[in-house]
Amino acid sequence: MNVIHLSAECYPVAKVGGLGDVVSALPKYQQSAGVNAIVVLPYYDRKFVQENEFEVIFRSEVSMGDWSSRFEVLKEKTDKLGFPLHLIRIPGLLDRPEIYSYPDETEQFVAFQLAFLEWLTKFEVRPDIIHCHDHHTGLVPFLLNYSYRYNHLSDIPTVLTIHNAQYQGWISWDKFNYLPDVDPSKTGLLEWNNCINPLATAVKCCWRYTTVSPSYLKELSYNSNGLEALFEMEKAKGVGIINGIDTDVWNPATDAMIPATYDTDSAGKGKTANKKAICKEFGLTATKPLIAFIGRLVGEKGADLLPQALTTALSALKLKGKANILILGSGEPAIEDALSGLRTSFPKSYNVFIGYNEALSHQIYAGADFLLMPSRVEPCGLNQLYSLRYGTIPIVRSTGGLIDTVIDISEPDGYGICFQEATADEISHAILRAVELYQNSEQVSLLRSRMMSLNYSWHQSANQYIELYNSLK
Ligand code: ADP
Ligand code: GLC
Repeated sequence: MNVIHLSAECYPVAKVGGLGDVVSALPKYQQSAGVNAIVVLPYYDRKFVQENEFEVIFRSEVSMGDWSSRFEVLKEKTDKLGFPLHLIRIPGLLDRPEIYSYPDETEQFVAFQLAFLEWLTKFEVRPDIIHCHDHHTGLVPFLLNYSYRYNHLSDIPTVLTIHNAQYQGWISWDKFNYLPDVDPSKTGLLEWNNCINPLATAVKCCWRYTTVSPSYLKELSYNSNGLEALFEMEKAKGVGIINGIDTDVWNPATDAMIPATYDTDSAGKGKTANKKAICKEFGLTATKPLIAFIGRLVGEKGADLLPQALTTALSALKLKGKANILILGSGEPAIEDALSGLRTSFPKSYNVFIGYNEALSHQIYAGADFLLMPSRVEPCGLNQLYSLRYGTIPIVRSTGGLIDTVIDISEPDGYGICFQEATADEISHAILRAVELYQNSEQVSLLRSRMMSLNYSWHQSANQYIELYNSLK
C-alpha cells in the first residue's frame, strides 16, 4: 500500500510541536508494518536540510491566481528517517527558515498544496491513500474532488488527521482566485463563517477524518473554535486514534541527550542523577521535588495561568521551602515576560528557559519528578506520554487526550495527578498534591515502575491507521 503523508512539520526536519513528532514517527512505524508511507513537506532552509543530501526528482510549474513559479521536488537520498522524505521547493516562497508566521503564510500553504497536486498528476503509480495533516493541507481533498484540473484523481481516498482544530487556516474570499477552476456548484464546501476555511473544507471533503485521541473526537462537537455544528454533522466520518511515541527517540535507557541513562530497574538512581544535573544548571535544589512545564506558551496550554498559579503555590511552599519549578517554553511575549519576571521572586526554587531546545526537553523529562500540563485544549498531548516513559509523574487538566492517557492516583491503577478546571487555583492545588505525594518515596517509586511499564509505542496506533486505510480501498 502506498500512502502519502502531507504535512507542514516532520521531526527532525521541522518541528514546532507534536505534529512534527507524529509525522516523523507514524510513517516510520507504518513502513515497518509493510506500508510504503512517504512524507511530503514544504522545503525549509533549516539544519536537517542543509546537512543532508537531496536529489531533485521532479520539476514543473505551479500557478496561483496571476502568480506562477517553477518548483522542484527534492528527495532525501538515503531515507535516513526510515521513510522517503520529499520537500517541495518554490523559490522565494518555500525556501525559508521558519515553519510558520510569515505574512504570506496563506500563499505558502496554498502553493504547497497546488505544487503537490501538479506532481501527483505525473505519478506513475497512483497512491492508495493521501493522508493530510491539519489545515495546511486541507484544500487537497476538495481540489481532488472538484477542481477540473485534478478531479481525474478523485478516486484516491483522502484521510485528514486533526491534530488541533483551534487553527483552521482561514483565507479571505478575495483569494478564491488562487484556486484552479472548480465546479461552481461546490464552492460552498470551502465556506465557513464568511471565509474559506481549509480545515472545515477538509472535514467536509475527506473520506474519513481522525482526531489524535478518542476524547478529543467527542469534544469537537462542543468545543472546536466555531466548527462545533460541522463536527456534529460529519461525526459519522470521524475516528479517534490516540497518538503513540517513537520509542527509539524517547527511551531513557538509550537517550544520548540525557546525562544518565536508566531503565525501570534503575529509575530511582537514574532520575536522581539527571535531576542533580538539571538542578545544578538552573540553580535549583535537587533534594526538593522538581515540577516542570514544557510547551508552547499560549492560552491553549494554560500557560497564561502559570504566573499566578506558581506564585500562589511557591508562596505557600516558600514558607516550607519544599519545591522547585522549572519552565521550558516560548510563545506569547506577555506570558514569556511574566514567567521570566517570577525568577526574582523565587530565586532558588524557580527558573525558566525561554526558547525552543530539544535536548533540554529530554533532560527535563528525565530529571523532573512531575510534569505539569494545565491545558485548556489538548487534542492528544505527547508531553505526558514522554514523561510516562521517563518515569515522571504527569499533573494534568483532564481534557482531550489527557483524559485518555492519565489516570489519577486515587484510582486503583492510577499514576498521575488530574484536575478538572483550567484555573490558577486548581493548578496550585494540584502542585500541592504533588509535593505531598513526593514525601512518600515508596509510592513514588511504585508509580514510576507503573508508568514506565505502560506501552504507548506507535505500533498499535499505526496499525489502527492501516486498518482505516484498508477500509477505504
Ligand atoms: P503541541 O503539539 O500542542 O505543542 P504536544 O504535547 O503534542 O503539544 O507536543 C509538544 C512537543 O513539542 C513535545 O515533543 C515537546 O517536548 C516539544 N516542545 C514544546 N515546547 C518545547 C520547547 N520550548 N523546547 C523543546 N521542545 C518543546
Ligand atoms: C497538536 C495538539 C497536541 C497533539 C499534537 C500531535 O499540536 O495540540 O495535543 O499531541 O498535535 O498530534
